[in-house]
Amino acid sequence: MPRPIISPSVLASDFGKLTIECKRMINGGAEWLHMDVMDGHFVPNITIGPPVLSCVARSIPGIFMDCHMMVEHPEKWVGDIAAAGGSLYCFHIEATSDPLSLIKAIHDKNMRAGVAISPDTPSTAITGEIGAAADMLLVMTVYPGRGGQKFLDRCVPKVAELRARFPDKDIEVDGGVGPKTVHSCAEAGSNVIVAGTAIFHADNPEEVITALKNAVVT
Ligand code: DX5
Ligand code: ZN
Repeated sequence: MPRPIISPSVLASDFGKLTIECKRMINGGAEWLHMDVMDGHFVPNITIGPPVLSCVARSIPGIFMDCHMMVEHPEKWVGDIAAAGGSLYCFHIEATSDPLSLIKAIHDKNMRAGVAISPDTPSTAITGEIGAAADMLLVMTVYPGRGGQKFLDRCVPKVAELRARFPDKDIEVDGGVGPKTVHSCAEAGSNVIVAGTAIFHADNPEEVITALKNAVVT
C-alpha cells in the first residue's frame, strides 16, 4: 500500500489569499495541493486555470500541484498545465475516448497521470491496461462540480475493487471527505485523501490534516 498523502482542495480556501493558504497547508503537513480546474462544460462551474496555477507555482517553489481536470477535451490542456507547473494531471475517463494516448501525452510532459471516475461510472471503466499505465486513480465520492457536498457512501466499494486490482497505485478519494468519512475510504484502500471544506472551514486545519493522515491504513 502506498504511503498516506493529504491533498487539501483549495476550492474551499479564500482565493484572495491563495498562496498564503497553500503555504499554510504545506507547513501543516499536507504533501500535495488539490487544484480543481472546472471549465463550465464538463461541469456547470468555472474555477481556476493555468494562470492561477502558475502564480501558485512561482510563489511556492517545489509545490506538488495535484490538478483535477473537470474539463471537456482534457487532451487540450496538458501542455498549458505542464507549463504552469502542474505535477499530476488527473482527467475524467468520461471526458475522453482515448485514455491511453492521453496518459502518454501527460507523461511526455513529465507529469504524473491520474484517471478519475464520477459516482455513476463503474470501476471497470478503468481497465487493466489503463490502470497499469496511470499513476493515480481517483474515485469521486460526490458528483464533480462544487465543494461542500455530502459524501456518497455508495462509491466506497469502488475504492476496494480498484485497490484489489492495483495494489501499488495511488488511489485518491475526493468529495465530502473529512474526519468522519475518511475511515471507510482508508479501510477500502485509499491512500490519497482530498478534503476541502473539512480542512479549510475547520478552526484548526493542521489538526484535521494530521487526523486524516493518521486514518490512512498503511
Ligand atoms: C468537487 C471537487 C472537490 C471538492 C472537494 O467537484 O472535485 O475537490 O472541492 O471539496 P469538499 O471536500 O468540500 O467536498
Ligand atoms: Zn477535486
